[in-house]
Amino acid sequence: MTPTFPETRLLAGDLLLRPFSAIDIEENQIACADPLIQQWLPLPQPYTRQDSADWCTKISHSLRETGDGIHFAIVDANTDRLLGTVGLKKTDWRGLVSEIGYAVAPWARGRGIAAEATRTIGHWLLVDHRFQRMELKAATGNLSSQRTALKAGLQREGIMRNAGFIHAGRVDLVLFSLTPDDLK
Ligand SMILES: CC(C)(COP(=O)(O)OP(=O)(O)OC[C@H]1O[C@@H](n2cnc3c(N)ncnc32)[C@H](O)[C@@H]1OP(=O)(O)O)[C@@H](O)C(=O)NCCC(=O)NCCS
Repeated sequence: MTPTFPETRLLAGDLLLRPFSAIDIEENQIACADPLIQQWLPLPQPYTRQDSADWCTKISHSLRETGDGIHFAIVDANTDRLLGTVGLKKTDWRGLVSEIGYAVAPWARGRGIAAEATRTIGHWLLVDHRFQRMELKAATGNLSSQRTALKAGLQREGIMRNAGFIHAGRVDLVLFSLTPDDLK
């Protein structure tokens, strides 16, 4: 049977990383319809309330339950307001490698939230779960995502040619990684 990550809540300063729930549907829909998120993530277009309800109450949970990874809502630890999302996907349980992804809602950008959440998930994955590698792949044109990866302590490895897709078409991806040695 494929292993799974346990359902988890993580505190990161003023941020709480917790599972999505029905209370996030409205704000998640607004965030996922945002032009910058639509530019870099191949989400449904248009992103409907039903898409958001499916993600918050079913898909994000089934991706954990089937062993693919784990997806967190990033919320304000005091108000529980949705600020963004961070998650792990395509987990290789034998090779102990998983791939992180993130997005920040337009009303929460410019505060380094994605880097803080990425540092927290990296530590949780590599220390608590003893994984050997966390990857991040960003389109070559996605400079804020690349800067976020570096700020979170990941190392840039190189270019994966024609490896990704966004709504505008195929893209080259910059590959970043975090390994246990990077945390010493
Ligand atoms: C990537 C993303 C999550 C970062 O959000 P954030 O945590 O609020 O990040 P910030 O706005 O604080 O910016 C992080 C860094 O990128 C820099 N940055 C932001 N926009 C930039 C741009 N267009 N060009 C270059 N650098 C940029 C910021 O200056 C900051 O670096 P600094 O702290 O050294 O000044 C957000 O831009 C987003 O949601 N993008 C759409 C979804 C996405 O691209 N996800 C990643 C897919 S791989």
